[in-house]
Amino acid sequence: MNEIKIGLIGFGTIGAGVVKLLRNNASLIEQKTGARVALKWIADLDITTDRGVSTEGIQLTRRVDDLLHDPEVSVVIELIGGYEPARTFVLKAIENGKHVVTANKALLAVHGDEIYAAAREKGVEVLFEASVGGGIPVLSAIKGNLAANRFSTVLGIVNGTCNYILTRMTQEGADFGDVLKSAQALGYAEADPTFDIEGVDTAHKLCLLLSLCFGTKIDLKDVYCEGITSVTSEDVDFAKNFGYRIKLLAIGKLDGDRIEARVHPTMVPIDYPLADVHGVFNAIRLTGDFVGPVMFYGRGAGMDATASAVIGDVMELTRDMLAGGSRRCAPLGFLDENVAALTL
Ligand code: HSE
Repeated sequence: MNEIKIGLIGFGTIGAGVVKLLRNNASLIEQKTGARVALKWIADLDITTDRGVSTEGIQLTRRVDDLLHDPEVSVVIELIGGYEPARTFVLKAIENGKHVVTANKALLAVHGDEIYAAAREKGVEVLFEASVGGGIPVLSAIKGNLAANRFSTVLGIVNGTCNYILTRMTQEGADFGDVLKSAQALGYAEADPTFDIEGVDTAHKLCLLLSLCFGTKIDLKDVYCEGITSVTSEDVDFAKNFGYRIKLLAIGKLDGDRIEARVHPTMVPIDYPLADVHGVFNAIRLTGDFVGPVMFYGRGAGMDATASAVIGDVMELTRDMLAGGSRRCAPLGFLDENVAALTL
C-alpha cells in the first residue's frame, strides 16, 4: 500500500480540524488518492491541552526540527500563522526537500517571493488554498480552470471574523466587543484579532488573490487598508435605513496599466448578492474576459472548512507524488512587464 507521511506544525483550531478530517475520512482520502495519508508528527509548544481529537498513533513534539528532519515526512503543513517563526520553518522544510501546505496568508503576502523562489530551486511545491476564503476553492480555480482568462476585477468578503461581527451588529444590534469575543471562541479570529478587525488579514488575502489573478507581486504597503474598528451601531442602523448593509470588502481592479487595491468598510445595496453574505461566510467575485463574472461562496473561516482546504492540497500533492510528477510553483511573472502595482 502506498503511504504518504506528513508533519503538522501548529495544533490549534485548524490543526485539530486537520486531525479530525484525516481520521473521519481516511478511507475516502485513500480511495481518491491511491495512498494512505498518515499524520506522523504534530509539533506545537503546547502538546498537553486536549484539542478534542484523538492523537493516537501520532507523535507529538515541541521541537519542530523533529518533523523537519524526518526523511519519511514528505509534506509539512504549517498552521501556526504570522510571519515568524513560520517563515523559518517553511524555508527549512523546503530546504529539506519537503512540500509545504499552509493556510498562512500573512506569510505569503509578505514573504511569498522568497518562499516560492526557494521552492522552485528545490523542486518542491507550496500550496495555500486555505489561506484565502477558508474552504472555498477560489485559488485553485484561478490557477486552474479560470487560468485562460485575463481578469479585470476581484471583489469580495474574505474575512469571516469581520463579516460575523458586522452581521450580528446588523441583525441583533450586538456590541462589537462581545461579538469579537464570540468570533474568537468559535475559532474564526486570528491569534491576534487586530489583523482581522483592522483589515490587515483582508489585505493579505487581497494581495494573494491579485498576485494570482494579475501575475505580479502586490506589496502589502500598496494596499489601502481600513478595518471595521470605527464602524458603530449607528453607522450600521443608518446604512440599514437607507437600504444598505455595511461589509468589509477587498477590492482589486485592473485599471489600464495599474492595479487598484483597497480594503475598507463599504455600503452595499441590500439587493446585491454580497449584502446577503452573512456570518462567517465569504464570497469572492472575479471577472475574467472570457468567463465573465464568477462568484464563489462558502465558509470563510473555522476548523472544518479550513481543514477541508488544507487536506485538499495534501491530496493534490499526494496524487502528484504518486504520478511521479511535479506541479509548477510559479504563480507570478506572467503579466505584461509594464503593468505595475499602484497605491491609491
Ligand atoms: N481570521 C480569519 C478570518 C481566518 O476570520 O477570516 C480565516 O482566514
